[in-house]
Amino acid sequence: MLAAYAARISPDHPLSALTVGDRPAPDVPEGWARVRVKAASLNHHDLWSLRGVGLPEDRLPMILGCDAAGLDDDGNEVVVHAVVSDPSWQGDETLDPRRSLLSERYQGTLADEVVVPRRNLVPKPPELSWEEAACLPTAWLTAYRMLFTQAGLPPGSTVLVQGAGGGVATALIALGRAAGLRIWATSRDEDKRTRALELGAEQAFESGARLPAKVDAVMETVGAATWGHSVRALRPGGAIVISGATSGPNPKATELNRIFFLQLRVLGSTMGTRDELDRLVRFLRTTGVRPVIDEVLPLEEAAKGFERMASGDLVGKIVFTRP
Ligand SMILES: NC(=O)c1ccc[n+]([C@@H]2O[C@H](COP(=O)([O-])OP(=O)(O)OC[C@H]3O[C@@H](n4cnc5c(N)ncnc54)[C@H](OP(=O)(O)O)[C@@H]3O)[C@@H](O)[C@H]2O)c1
Repeated sequence: MLAAYAARISPDHPLSALTVGDRPAPDVPEGWARVRVKAASLNHHDLWSLRGVGLPEDRLPMILGCDAAGLDDDGNEVVVHAVVSDPSWQGDETLDPRRSLLSERYQGTLADEVVVPRRNLVPKPPELSWEEAACLPTAWLTAYRMLFTQAGLPPGSTVLVQGAGGGVATALIALGRAAGLRIWATSRDEDKRTRALELGAEQAFESGARLPAKVDAVMETVGAATWGHSVRALRPGGAIVISGATSGPNPKATELNRIFFLQLRVLGSTMGTRDELDRLVRFLRTTGVRPVIDEVLPLEEAAKGFERMASGDLVGKIVFTRP
């Protein structure tokens, strides 16, 4: 079957480690289900994997991809939940120390077929296209958990979203707006700031700009480049929810004094549970909010999508399709 996979690891030139070609179709273990992939979306996680982050050499070749929507063997339309927890684990799957994401231990979704534990399938409603549904399991689920589970923000709160063009950031803006939050966004790029306003942000600022007021919470995925600004943006008692560090994990100033003096809260967030994915799907059905898709490409052209993500020149998600 056709697949986009890591044939080797390249920390400095991740795109050179990507191969789009033939891989054996997967066997289906007891209790698992096969999904014929109709659409799969790209995440920064896939670039990290090519760099060897979370993917050791002894697991290669590894099909990349966490997100997919497709048909199971009974013809049901499904969305795939990417967090695979231990069969004995009870409760929040993201807290299982032995959990992995698809493409870390088990083969990923950028292929004709993927196999996952049967409990990882969530029904896809007909209102969502294959492409839209394929955006949900990582970026949109992460944004959902950041806003509603970790920050627990009441409607009317002011929230700053850093790096407005990203897959997670566009989800934060659209979901937050639909939930009655006042969203402010930053971006280095004027066009992306305009898109943020179109998506529902009330105001958009240049990265690092002085804000007109302090905010209740900051949603952080950029990391070192924006961390200081995020800490300085908060009101006393406010919260930063962090789920990524694209620009690096070591900010120049950690602002520790400000964190304790203003009693700020720093909350880590990773992916989300199957139940949260199910609720996210219902949230989209109810509100009419839909994922922001930058480009749809056939899987054969996966390398082009990876290049665009590596360049940072995109707004929202890149989706790969299969016939
Ligand atoms: N913990 C989890 O479960 C989880 C889940 C999903 C994603 N993540 C992580 O979250 C991060 C974002 O993921 P994504 O899929 O949304 O990635 P993405 O779509 O590639 O995000 C791109 C955005 O990052 C911002 N950015 C990148 N480098 C920057 C820099 N040096 N300075 C300022 N902004 C910069 C850009 O903002 P502007 O160009 O608009 O300024 C850009 O729009 C990644 O590191 C990813 O690994 C974690």
